[in-house]
Amino acid sequence: MSSAPLAPVDPFAVAVRPLDEPGNAATLRAAGPIVQAEAPAGGPVWIITEEALARQALADDRLVKDPAWAPRSWNRWAAGLEPTAAEQLSLTTLDGPAHTALRRAHTPLLSARRVQGYAGRIGSIARELLTAQAPGPVDLMDEFTTRFPLAVICELLGVPDDRVDQAIAACRQLNGEDPAAFAAAMAAFSELAEAALASGDGMAVELRERVPEGVDDRELHYLLFGLIFASQITTDAALGFLLARVLADGPIGADAIDGLVTDGLRRHPPAPFTLWRFTRTALELSGVRLPERAPVLVDIAVINTAPGPAGGPDLTFGAGPHFCVGAQLAQLELRAVAEVLVTDFPRARLAVPYADLRRTDRGMQGSRLTALPVLLRG
Ligand code: HEM
Repeated sequence: MSSAPLAPVDPFAVAVRPLDEPGNAATLRAAGPIVQAEAPAGGPVWIITEEALARQALADDRLVKDPAWAPRSWNRWAAGLEPTAAEQLSLTTLDGPAHTALRRAHTPLLSARRVQGYAGRIGSIARELLTAQAPGPVDLMDEFTTRFPLAVICELLGVPDDRVDQAIAACRQLNGEDPAAFAAAMAAFSELAEAALASGDGMAVELRERVPEGVDDRELHYLLFGLIFASQITTDAALGFLLARVLADGPIGADAIDGLVTDGLRRHPPAPFTLWRFTRTALELSGVRLPERAPVLVDIAVINTAPGPAGGPDLTFGAGPHFCVGAQLAQLELRAVAEVLVTDFPRARLAVPYADLRRTDRGMQGSRLTALPVLLRG
């Protein structure tokens, strides 16, 4: 057993790059299947850069999500950790039977069949929001890509549509670094959850009926917050990359859209890293020794862009017990916007050359286009 090679570049560095520039992926991949780097919150982090090892680690029950196992030296706030599993019920911090029970409550609500039933309505939301855009050049990253996924998830959960603005503001506040703004955002999410539960119909009410006995309203609010925020932060970024591609490719048929969605997600995964996992015991991964409480991440972006047959591996939505519960909804949303764009706005085009588009890589926060100026009516 040995220690992991040190990452030759900072995997969390913030950088602005041309949209399709590969960044540091090849350098990190070449360094080894598991590399060590400096964690944003200090101390070492182990990063998996190879698909088979990633799938093995994501199914390994010695790697747990509960932040109670984070390095003792980490400042919880600076590290952006969620509350521990004991403090707060959450899909993203529980493991084992408690996690399975909570997943069972969620999965039927977001199954492929179930979300397909909302396809028409999701298409209408895309149409309404695109039609409302200004006729001149409009930056779709400024508002549209944030509003659309929030309008969809609010409608599905039963949050009244006059509260979508509140959801947008709360998501933006949460992405900042001010603790007071963070607290205000969490209070706003609670209000949104309460409004959805009071509305009497929608998935929020269904989820309340399905969660394990004893889950109280405060806990339910947090689960609903998880669905709202996870919808926005990921789909928002994915829409930018997808729409840039759709517009750059000129007139495309609706049959090309599925391929563009899959390929866009693979090449620009909106969650470039998994969420944190921690070793609950010392262990070995691919010949590398990890101590107890070691923080571990899977580098989805590096793995997804590895050369391979048929476009290479795809870990965009994760793998194992924590595989994204919203994967079907997200793909449906992306397809819906692309379809509306090509059918209702056949003259739409980029307002700047594709080569001028830039993305901002923000480490664990993911990559997002800095702007997407578009002339929707040509
Ligand atoms: C393109 C859009 C999306 C991407 C790329 C994405 C990606 C991911 C990934 C990689 C994970 C696993 C994280 C890990 O194992 O640490 C995950 C989990 C999760 N996602 Fe998504 N997601 C997307 C959209 C959504 C949507 C629309 C929802 C809600 C409706 C959602 C809700 C969740 C939840 C609740 C989890 C935690 C599941 C668990 O831990 O059991 N996601 N997502």
